[in-house]
Amino acid sequence: MAMRAGAALGLALIGLVLASLSGSCHGTLQVGFYNGKCGVSDVEAIVAGVVKAQFRKDSTIASALLRMQFHDCFVAGCDASILLDGKSTEKTAPPNLSVRGYDVIDAAKAAVEAICPGVVSCADIIVMATRDVVSLSGGGQYKVETGRQDGLVSLASNVNLPGPSISVNDSIAAFARKGLTVSDMVLLLGGHTIGVAHCSLFQDRLYNFQNTGNPDPTMDRSLASALRSRCPNQQTKVDNIVNLDQNPASSSIVDNSFYKQILAHRGILQIDQEIALDKQTKDLVGAIAGSFDFSTRFGQAMVKLGALQSGSPGEIRQSCRAINTARKLPTSKEEQRTGQMGWMGQTRRGGGDLRALSIHKRGSPN
Ligand code: HEM
Repeated sequence: MAMRAGAALGLALIGLVLASLSGSCHGTLQVGFYNGKCGVSDVEAIVAGVVKAQFRKDSTIASALLRMQFHDCFVAGCDASILLDGKSTEKTAPPNLSVRGYDVIDAAKAAVEAICPGVVSCADIIVMATRDVVSLSGGGQYKVETGRQDGLVSLASNVNLPGPSISVNDSIAAFARKGLTVSDMVLLLGGHTIGVAHCSLFQDRLYNFQNTGNPDPTMDRSLASALRSRCPNQQTKVDNIVNLDQNPASSSIVDNSFYKQILAHRGILQIDQEIALDKQTKDLVGAIAGSFDFSTRFGQAMVKLGALQSGSPGEIRQSCRAINTARKLPTSKEEQRTGQMGWMGQTRRGGGDLRALSIHKRGSPN
């Protein structure tokens, strides 16, 4: 009996080791799930074609989609719940108001539906399209797992994404709740190697950090001064944007330059700067800054992010913006709750209305 239990434990351990070594299959997800599911058509190539064409028109879709995958996967798993239109769906929650790229997903979905209707999930399209833009932005090509289903639920009140001023401790805890390690967190924050942030989300660091009346002492002085002219300390209707990676030669390239910048005290968001200073994360930041394998490790972390699943029932949506059947989406009670929630650890000057962000024109960031 004891021997049988020992053998079973041994087999379970071997299984675990094999699963962790293969790294190509999480639960029901697998690399190449759509192979042969659309006749001879290559689903991943169809999506890649659409994404490439859109990227040629506007390369900022790269940062938009990268952020979209994070915001989708971190809330109830990667189930395209962020894509659903509706009064109180996730996309109406404050952190999602400046998420862009929905049109790219629609275009990719239309292209796959035209060839192979009802087979490819919107959740998989987000993950495939993000992989493609990362590669188009110089970040190397990682293999993605597919086979996700689209969720049936999307509630703004479920959106509890980390805010820009979250502490390293709280951020580690938030990632741990999703089964992601400190190292995954530091690598995934490397997503900030491209894209922009609005002044209102880090303005406190420039003028009155933690009510001291002074700028954040961890920010490089010349950067703080340049940012003050880009982000004036007065309530104006314009909320400018600045690059998250302050190396101008690399602000739209997926590489490890972001880590070099934060080591030089040139992080824009408070959490970005703090991972370069906190004892739990700074060694890793230093190692990534000095390494040549960021792309590979970032890809692996993205696959882990992509493996987050809600476990709830799903479907293959016809349109990424609506569930197939006329199920009831949020009640008016839930809408009211939406008005009360915000970002974890967020400080936003004057409690300003994040909704305004979605209508700001994107000028060129500095
Ligand atoms: C603690 C975790 C994180 C926090 C607090 C955070 C916070 C933020 C904030 C405040 C912005 C600026 C939004 C705006 O001004 O409109 C932003 C932008 C961005 N984030 Fe994060 N983020 C986190 C993790 C991630 C992860 C894991 C990824 C992807 C792997 C990511 C990708 C991006 C990208 C690409 C942008 C730029 C978006 C654009 O240019 O449109 N972030 N993030």
